Amino acid sequence: MKPINLLISTLFIVLPTSFSLSQNVTIPIETENVATVLRTDENNRLKIIYSGKSLSNVNEYERTGEVFNFQSEGASANNSAYAVAGINNNFTEPAIAVIHTDGNNSLDLLYERHTISQTTDGAILTTVTLKDPVYPFFVDLFYKAWKDKDVIEQWSVIRHTEKGDVTLNKYASANLYLNNKDYYLTSYNGSWAKEMQPVETHLRQGMHTIESRLGTRENLLTSPNFMLSLDGKATETSGIVMMGQIAWNGNFALQFETDVYKNLHIVAGINPYQSAYHLKPDTPFETPRFVYTVSFEGKGKGSRNLQAWLRDHALLDGHGDRLTLLNNWEATYFDFDQDKLVSLFGGAKELGVDMFLLDDGWFANKYPRNDDKAGLGDWEVNRKKLPDGIPFLVREAEKEGVKFGIWIEPEMVNPKSELYENHPDWVIRQEKRSEIYFRNQLVLDLTNPEVQDFVFGIVDNLFTENPTLAFIKWDCNAPVFNGHSKYLEQENIPQSHLYVAYSKGLHNVLERIRAKYPTVPMMLCSGGGGRSDYQLLEYFTEFWLSDNTDPLERVFMQWNYSYYYPAIAMCNHVTDWSDKSLKYRIDVASMGKLGFDIRANELSEQDMKFAQQTIRNYDDFKDIVWHGEMYRLASPYENDMASLMYVNGQKTEGVMFNYLTNWRYLAEPSLRPVKLQGLDKDKTYRLTEINLYDGVSTPIDQQKVYTGEFLMNIGFNPSVNSSRTSVVVRIESIE
Ligand code: DGJ
Repeated sequence: MKPINLLISTLFIVLPTSFSLSQNVTIPIETENVATVLRTDENNRLKIIYSGKSLSNVNEYERTGEVFNFQSEGASANNSAYAVAGINNNFTEPAIAVIHTDGNNSLDLLYERHTISQTTDGAILTTVTLKDPVYPFFVDLFYKAWKDKDVIEQWSVIRHTEKGDVTLNKYASANLYLNNKDYYLTSYNGSWAKEMQPVETHLRQGMHTIESRLGTRENLLTSPNFMLSLDGKATETSGIVMMGQIAWNGNFALQFETDVYKNLHIVAGINPYQSAYHLKPDTPFETPRFVYTVSFEGKGKGSRNLQAWLRDHALLDGHGDRLTLLNNWEATYFDFDQDKLVSLFGGAKELGVDMFLLDDGWFANKYPRNDDKAGLGDWEVNRKKLPDGIPFLVREAEKEGVKFGIWIEPEMVNPKSELYENHPDWVIRQEKRSEIYFRNQLVLDLTNPEVQDFVFGIVDNLFTENPTLAFIKWDCNAPVFNGHSKYLEQENIPQSHLYVAYSKGLHNVLERIRAKYPTVPMMLCSGGGGRSDYQLLEYFTEFWLSDNTDPLERVFMQWNYSYYYPAIAMCNHVTDWSDKSLKYRIDVASMGKLGFDIRANELSEQDMKFAQQTIRNYDDFKDIVWHGEMYRLASPYENDMASLMYVNGQKTEGVMFNYLTNWRYLAEPSLRPVKLQGLDKDKTYRLTEINLYDGVSTPIDQQKVYTGEFLMNIGFNPSVNSSRTSVVVRIESIE
């Protein structure tokens, strides 16, 4: 997802566009299996006449509208390609609402032209320009279609040449219209340690909105992801399902409006809440990407489309490696000093992980960071705890053959800090009102270029002082509670720009960091999983799903995240947050990027030996988990167990994870076999149980071999039960 100015300059092939014999213009947006067809009407307004399966004969698209009969007075604009407020019989939710410089608040958008081009990164980009017939006001609609992934990115660019500022009261990225009948929307509630809780809503009438107004830590209460089953409920392997998210690290709104015809109108973009935008002439406003896929083969295919798209085009270093690690957060919290940390490095080495990650509490002197009440913002090393500084720790870790990474939370400040004392103007706060805190902290004003420099400097100074620093964990624990910017006030910029300008400010900082440090892995963390948008993942190699590391909770949570993210992006740590066995905890954490957050030196000899073996096993199969295809086989929401598998591209190697999820006596996890997926039906496979303690036997007979056809149609029974609560199976073809 490159910025549009870059994209435009890289367009080079102009493909033929589709014009009908009449005056109407037909514009199909196509991937391998999905099509959205735009067509001008007799008044030159752009409509969506079809959304569904792609057709092999492109000329038939212009006729798709003929077989529907939804015309009636007052509803003729329901299927606008970009619904406007204030004209055109439009009673649907607008994608755009403006006030012109003369105070007029109507907008009409007529088709002007379109281009279809191939981008250098291999997508087909369709751009349609719409113009108001009365005002010099334009909207360019962008559709970037990824053919083999069935993924479409949609966004808009809004511009004008009026004499003065035009106020944008709403400025959505995308507007869709679906002619299906029975819609089931899965959206996700959350809060700290309870992220990604699915809620299914049968959409039958009126508006359903998924939105965030938190400013920062924007996914805390609601995820920007959605899953929409069309024409009835989809399953993992059947049904039509649309899945995606609005890729915006700020307030977002996804609106689903069901009309009288049972058609569904979707408007997605930046949440206009408190965000009227005053747009200057000749300064195009680019909205964020609305990213979605449509699968006609159920949710599993939809996930694999999104996962592959992220690895190939959105996630930083999606095809690369990741570092296994030992983190000290749950092992020490704020209670550590230099000697204690150095003593933990040995544990990292003994376990066999790649890196030690130093978490919160290493900085600030006047107000030392000994708990979460003080010090945030003062990024000098705490001399009492760490007298020899970070360079000493890096050296000591490296002596043990372990890399060193560090935690920061650069967008935030504790009022009890030197930063707050010296720069109260850098803080988002309401001077005339009492401050409201979230985790005892406030948000820095990233609309201010000086603050952007400061935040960039935190990262830059760390790398300058420690050139071999291997990893950054970037945290963000507070939402914006006190929305007011001194900088915008001084610059005479409306306060209603705050949320958008903040997100753009953060974007600027990350651009600068990545220009100077393009490859260093960084984890996106937000008080748990408060940030996981595709926009920020362009700068991060991975993200932290939740502070909840109870492995049973994680089976469900990772299941939900897996619809939208590849395993390589998902950080899973083994901690002491549960009574589940070490094996269960490691097995669950192995379905992603494995880390540990334990006092490794306190493991028994037997547990240490087991952990070492599982890490070696992980090193052996991680390439399949990170870069292979994922299949969800048995849902913990429908069974007494969960089962998932990952297969490599050649279908020669895989790994299957199975977990007991119901400890009741009545539970029947192993009654039936689990049907595998994604194998080659003609290949023969051997299945071997791994991650077993020394001396523990397995009922799985690895002498037996099975065809892919057998495993996918009859299945395999991993024999999960209350004494085998977690079972990991390696799958290998034996040609
Ligand atoms: C919240 C994160 O989610 C935790 O992993 C940890 O880094 C703490 N912040 C530190 O304050």
